Amino acid sequence: MATGGGDGAKAAGRPYDLVVFGASGFTGQFVVEEVARVMADGELRGTLRWAVAGRSRQKLQAVLNWAAERLGKTALGAEVGVLLCDVADAASLAAMARQTRLVLSCVGPYRFVGEPVVEACVENGASCIDISGESQFLEGMYLKYNQKAAEKGVYIIGSCGFDSIPADMGVLYTRDKLKGTLTAVESFLKLKSGPEGLRMHDGTWQSAVYFIADQDNLKNLRKKIGYAPVPVVGAKLKRRGFVFYSPEFREYCIPFMGPDGSVVERSQRYLYTDLKETPVQYGAYVNIGGLGSVIKLMLAGILFLLLVKFSCGRKLLTKYPEFFSAGRFTKKGPTQKQMDETSFTMTFFGEGYSEGQDPQNGKPNVKICTEVKGPETGYVATPIAMVQAGLCLLEETACLPKQGGVYSPGAAFSKTKLIDRLNKRGLEFSVISKAEVKM
Ligand SMILES: NC(=O)c1ccc[n+]([C@@H]2O[C@H](COP(=O)([O-])OP(=O)(O)OC[C@H]3O[C@@H](n4cnc5c(N)ncnc54)[C@H](OP(=O)(O)O)[C@@H]3O)[C@@H](O)[C@H]2O)c1
Repeated sequence: MATGGGDGAKAAGRPYDLVVFGASGFTGQFVVEEVARVMADGELRGTLRWAVAGRSRQKLQAVLNWAAERLGKTALGAEVGVLLCDVADAASLAAMARQTRLVLSCVGPYRFVGEPVVEACVENGASCIDISGESQFLEGMYLKYNQKAAEKGVYIIGSCGFDSIPADMGVLYTRDKLKGTLTAVESFLKLKSGPEGLRMHDGTWQSAVYFIADQDNLKNLRKKIGYAPVPVVGAKLKRRGFVFYSPEFREYCIPFMGPDGSVVERSQRYLYTDLKETPVQYGAYVNIGGLGSVIKLMLAGILFLLLVKFSCGRKLLTKYPEFFSAGRFTKKGPTQKQMDETSFTMTFFGEGYSEGQDPQNGKPNVKICTEVKGPETGYVATPIAMVQAGLCLLEETACLPKQGGVYSPGAAFSKTKLIDRLNKRGLEFSVISKAEVKM
């Protein structure tokens, strides 16, 4: 029986319900602000005890002061604990994990600094949620810690940021809104920015460089895991080409390089294998604009893929993020104005079989279009998604998988109210066109 994220840990007298680890990082500071914001809201006021953790007391105090100022408070004083903790110091990680029911880990790149946090949480009975977009890390943690996490009754749930909550929960939302059986869905991500452009922090760039450099190891890792096969139900979803024109959006699109595809696949595998639900095939794409954007992206992509293969190339990429990303990734990160002017829309086109129609026979006969839209992805949508995932884990214990373990968000939260929670905080899930369209 799982206890780590739930009542068992509370009964064990841990001083905190959640700890934000890596609170002094660029993303971590916004996670702190988001936790402080939801804790100040009526329903939760005073019910959860929380702390920030990191290497420098000074930096942690500065983040608390900064967050208080942004929330129009004089201080976040005594209600928030401060824990000193370094990934390089296993005893400090164990001490942090023993004091809380849940760690929200914002310490990355996860490939280098993520595992000791997971290990400490599993060993010391705390659950852990992260915002990693690095598939090798996410699946590697499954291979190494799923069994132990199950024995300990804790939940390790990766990719709870923009990667990959909108995609993973969006597929489940689309499935639940279709009257009948959804068998395949494609998502298209469109980013919108203001006159000052779209910016991301260097932390994500560093993670992306090492994630892409290590792609070859993913195959070996998956072989070791030996995933159970998932059957194709309904008509097989066709994979699109490397670049294609979308008549719906009137622009060019490419396959999404991030982890959404593999995260959704893991969720669907769990839902099929453990809950006997019909698996949904999935393809993730990004809208990139006109022909000019395609050419620019291809040139930048070729240079990136060439450099990322060699250690001296990776050194160059990580040393000069601004140059190699054409100004998109910077050591300073986006300004508040740039974040305010940025938003995303993820559109899902699903197809399936109407009620009473056997998905194993004939062509799909119903379609559905849904959407997830929200604010800036990295530092507004991600903290919202991470914190709401955390609250689900703490407050909806009975709706989580029966056993602890290492889960993707869709697997962990499919029976919870996560989508309602996200809707309330500005990540909006909606149906765009009716499910009953005959094909
Ligand atoms: N899924 C998504 O959509 C999404 C969105 C945003 C970010 N992310 C991911 O989040 C991660 C962080 O990104 P970021 O931009 O916030 O990076 P960042 O500003 O460099 O923050 C890294 C954090 O890790 C801490 N840290 C590093 N090494 C540590 C150690 N040995 N012990 C303790 N703490 C350590 C840093 O602490 P100090 O302050 O003490 O240096 C800092 O708090 C990246 O992996 C990024 O890809 C994902």
